[in-house]
Amino acid sequence: MLKRPRRNRINPAVRGLVRENELLVKHLVWPVFIEAGQGICTPISALPGVNRVSVDVLLESLKEATDLGILAVALFPKIEDRLKNSSASESVNPEGLVPDAIRRIKEKFPHLCVITDVALDPFSSDGHDGIVRENQIINDETVEALAAMAVCHAAAGADVVACSDMMDGRVLGIRQALDEVEYINTLICSYSAKYASAFYDPFRVALDSAPRAGDKKTYQMDPANSREAIMEVLMDQDEGADWILIKPGMPYLDIVSLARQTTHLPVAVYQVSGEYAMIKAASLAGWLNYEKVLMESLLCFVRAGADMIFTYGALDAARLLKQS
Ligand code: PBG
Repeated sequence: MLKRPRRNRINPAVRGLVRENELLVKHLVWPVFIEAGQGICTPISALPGVNRVSVDVLLESLKEATDLGILAVALFPKIEDRLKNSSASESVNPEGLVPDAIRRIKEKFPHLCVITDVALDPFSSDGHDGIVRENQIINDETVEALAAMAVCHAAAGADVVACSDMMDGRVLGIRQALDEVEYINTLICSYSAKYASAFYDPFRVALDSAPRAGDKKTYQMDPANSREAIMEVLMDQDEGADWILIKPGMPYLDIVSLARQTTHLPVAVYQVSGEYAMIKAASLAGWLNYEKVLMESLLCFVRAGADMIFTYGALDAARLLKQS
């Protein structure tokens, strides 16, 4: 035998020298669930280890996160039922939960990158990412609402607005609205290829944001499609997106890799709630090692081409990276 690939795996030194990819703490984005109030820390049943917290509690854990080297946090608000309506008007309240959280985080952690979610579902009494009329999701009117929401977040100090809604033309709409009021340095992370996935259920439980009727298949993508993802990535790039995001993560690594080959923009991936829940549940049953499976899954995102990884395990991963 002239070729023995095992020679390159012979000991830790050789394996280290030939290692192609590395997971770093700077790759991690920590998604957090927030709610109004004081001193609140509510466990989320479908996401063991993840809590929904009031901003004061969040600020305490951000101290640990930043000490561990985490550079970015993504905010997801649970909005009280009494504030929800069909136009999702609370999404542009400058004194609302999200703008308040942004200001308080920025005051204490000015260098932490604050990413906000731009979509109507947590604010909408219909539980859809867009405005619903006669069972239709109204695209262009939604884009205007999203643009106003993005400006509201930027005004409060958000570094990155991340549109997770999948409306057509929303990146351009948001970019124009931001530029009009001279928020030229606010970045846009576009969920370019967000699939209509059954892996989001624990998230919807956490925020009570599930659609009240129907599903999201007229705007989120069909899991069967990949060429369509390339088209979405290129469109968002042309509309001025700064980052491209693929979601979910683990079952969609081929899409991450395609996105990496399609654009020179940074590519992010979201290891969504259902993925985290699967890993956690199996480890709680004693069937998988949570730490090892988490770290392996995150490394695989890097190998597939992701620059950034949104994961509920960000803090755990950061701790493990620090130990190693
Ligand atoms: C809402 C949004 C969702 C997620 C992120 N933003 C849910 C959805 O589209 O229904 C899912 C994230 C997760 O499951 O962790 N626009």
